[in-house]
Amino acid sequence: MFNEIDFSKIDTAGAPPTDDAGRQYYYMAKLATMVTLKEQELGRPITYCLQTFGCQMNEKQSEVVAGIMDEIGFKRQDTENADVVIYNTCTVRENANLKVYGRLGKLHSLKKSNPDMKIALFGCMMQEKQVVDKIQKDYPFVNLVFGTHNIFKFAELFYEMENRDSQLIDIWEGTDKIVEELPTERNYSFKSGVNIMFGCNNFCSYCIVPYVRGRERSREPEAIVKEIEALVADGVTEVMLLGQNVNSYGKTLKNPVTFAQLLEKVEAIEGLKRIRFMTSHPKDLSDELIEYMGKSKKVCHHLHLPMQSGSSRILKVMNRHYDKEKYLGLVEKIRKAVPDISLTTDIIVGFPGETEEDFQETLDVVEKSCFDTAFTFIYSKRSGTPAAKMEDQVPEDVVKDRFDRLLKLVQEKGREASSRFEGEVQEVLVETESKEKGIFTGRTQYNLLVHFPGTPDLLGKYINVRLDTCKGFYYMGTQV
Ligand code: 5AD
Ligand code: SF4
Repeated sequence: MFNEIDFSKIDTAGAPPTDDAGRQYYYMAKLATMVTLKEQELGRPITYCLQTFGCQMNEKQSEVVAGIMDEIGFKRQDTENADVVIYNTCTVRENANLKVYGRLGKLHSLKKSNPDMKIALFGCMMQEKQVVDKIQKDYPFVNLVFGTHNIFKFAELFYEMENRDSQLIDIWEGTDKIVEELPTERNYSFKSGVNIMFGCNNFCSYCIVPYVRGRERSREPEAIVKEIEALVADGVTEVMLLGQNVNSYGKTLKNPVTFAQLLEKVEAIEGLKRIRFMTSHPKDLSDELIEYMGKSKKVCHHLHLPMQSGSSRILKVMNRHYDKEKYLGLVEKIRKAVPDISLTTDIIVGFPGETEEDFQETLDVVEKSCFDTAFTFIYSKRSGTPAAKMEDQVPEDVVKDRFDRLLKLVQEKGREASSRFEGEVQEVLVETESKEKGIFTGRTQYNLLVHFPGTPDLLGKYINVRLDTCKGFYYMGTQV
């Protein structure tokens, strides 16, 4: 979108510009020269490997880092035997952190055989002080560490890293900056995530996100619309509006705008076919939004509404600001307004103090709500959050048993809900070719995947597919 910059027009002899984006383009120009020289010296392309852990917000931010790397001349590869390895990290659960430490061990061996290799880590996990201390102490071979607030500065940091021998660490406590118009390299040509807000103010008692992503900040609606218009001009027909709690979008803007009003502005963009959004907090799901979903021509009939627990007592301790009845009431309301809606949710098992009775309440909501999919998580203790200090942490074997029982019910109910479309013809956006040659995967507006025999020219197109056989969370189908 903002790609194909003419670096020769940027004066790199003088001091860097003071505006945020201009300054980064200045460093990109310097790096582009450096990469060209290095390629000439080595007589081969200079490569990078970028891997993203965690959520769609991370995926989106990785696209900016990839955009900058591509722009300055690095060639991307999937494997880690590259000249530069970059991890965008997640810390929502402990196992996300463990995965990164495991990978770093392997990278150390690779670096021993290629001492010029550079390693950069960024994202949520790096916003934790004990993580950075550990990296400084145990992983000195890591070259660059930055966080979630200064990703826009990647080019400048990368340049600085290239010009020093010691580890470079730049972590910001928070920011109110939103830097627009950096290069991006999209994962798909026809669909894209779009950040509408950053951070979270909710402080659910188990969750580390507000500590690592900072306070909630909304982008101006004009900037969002401008970005989507540019995406559409570049071939995108489906957008996913991203935020930790999109239902509170716009509240803190100078001229406040509701999320439904933003949707209306996005819907008016000609050429855009589908609008998705993620994530909705039940406490802020407004009647205005429900009504808008019912009448909109472009907003997909899919709502991800994390319930976390079915027990009102646990929900209170989780600081979720709704109870079981309110959640079930919302499900009823949305189904009335949008009868064909596909509902998905997140559930945590084993929150401190969760009893068998509390757990039964969770099973009860799953029984009653007919979720198409529920993402189930074992509670993970995150230091610094209020829940980490709570007594009554549930024993591991009890949690595992509950998790298995929940998963069984979720799968049963998911299959039941998803199979309601069996035999129907639905429009799908064709997204990928599967590993099995000649089999393609499309997505219905309900976020259901369907695999069907097809040809590569269908990629990125909307076609009609008959949903022949429901396989639980996906379908086998035939193009009609
Ligand atoms: N332990 C387990 N799951 C968690 N989530 C957030 N924090 C934790 C935690 N400490 C889950 C929630 C959230 C999803 C993105 O991750 O269900 O909705
Ligand atoms: Fe975490 Fe709650 Fe914010 Fe979601 S709404 S990111 S679960 S604190």
